[in-house]
Amino acid sequence: MLIIGFESSCDETGVAVACTERGLLAHALHSQVAMHRDYGGVVPELASRDHIRRIVPLTRQVLDEAGVRADALDAVAYTAGPGLAGALLVGAGFARAFAWARDLPAIPIHHLEGHLLSPLLAEEAPAFPFVALLVSGGHTQLMRVDGVGRYELLGETLDDAAGEAFDKSAKLLGLGYPGGPELSRLAERGDPHAHALPRPMLHSGDLDFSFSGLKTAVLTRMRALQDAGRAADPAARADLAASTEAAIVDVLAAKSLQALRRTGLKTLVVAGGVGANRHLRARLAQALAALGGRAYFPPLHLCTDNGAMIAWAAVLRARAGLVDLPSLRGDAAFAV
Ligand code: KG4
Ligand code: ZN
Repeated sequence: MLIIGFESSCDETGVAVACTERGLLAHALHSQVAMHRDYGGVVPELASRDHIRRIVPLTRQVLDEAGVRADALDAVAYTAGPGLAGALLVGAGFARAFAWARDLPAIPIHHLEGHLLSPLLAEEAPAFPFVALLVSGGHTQLMRVDGVGRYELLGETLDDAAGEAFDKSAKLLGLGYPGGPELSRLAERGDPHAHALPRPMLHSGDLDFSFSGLKTAVLTRMRALQDAGRAADPAARADLAASTEAAIVDVLAAKSLQALRRTGLKTLVVAGGVGANRHLRARLAQALAALGGRAYFPPLHLCTDNGAMIAWAAVLRARAGLVDLPSLRGDAAFAV
């Protein structure tokens, strides 16, 4: 069975073709990061308009690269949410019209299920069951994953996502967007012990997170540096960046280990853009090795938003008998 998948929940337009027998055949991605950089964050209206511009050429490109004709497809999959409403509407509207015109079933996929299953696309894929840490600009969740369609939410952020904590702190430090990688780069030259920043909810007894207080603490420290006339001092800024990164990484690592202890599992999968963070990777790899387990970090192009994870989630759901294809045919109406 050949499935084309569409992702458009935020600032990436992704299209992919996957086959239930032969795996992922082709995928293409357009990132809008450069377009949103001038505004210091994603502008929803601009995101929607850019998805409209990109989705048709990307679809043609992917079908071409996969060597698949549109009339050979068996199903269409698309991100049904969560995400920016306008951006989702573009992908969902296009996907459902594409399916309706060809009398194909249209399979709605939950964006987070796409992220959760994306590690299974990597060459070295983890085996079920595992604990997944989903950390991106929009999500921070710990999940127990027992198989396709068998997920248990163990904990999640009560306010900002981990990526947001990186991005907002970076903004306070006067860094560009997206701030995570920039803050991490600046942190390399700083002392992570220079500022005793809070580790929110570290001992809360559950597996939830909270990052908004940390952002306020960074703001307070930044103001203190300004008052002392040291806000532009590279060493002072590097120290604050390093302390911020250490606080976020400490909480993510500690809660991941608590989740492993609670579930008795020894496999951890990290998905989402924050999974690119060098310190988080090193800390978790080391901790899992000490437990006799293993941490998996899928390649970054599978961690961040992409069409491949949506097509792949549909393939895995179809293989597991979790989609009723006939009932998904012939209806262009949808809600996101
Ligand atoms: O998964 P992603 O590409 O997009 C979504 O948010 O869905 O994640 C982007 C987030 C941003 O907040 C970005 O600052 C963060 O991942 N990020 C990082 C690093 N690289 C990307 N955060 C910390 N350290 C990094 N090296
Ligand atoms: Zn995402």
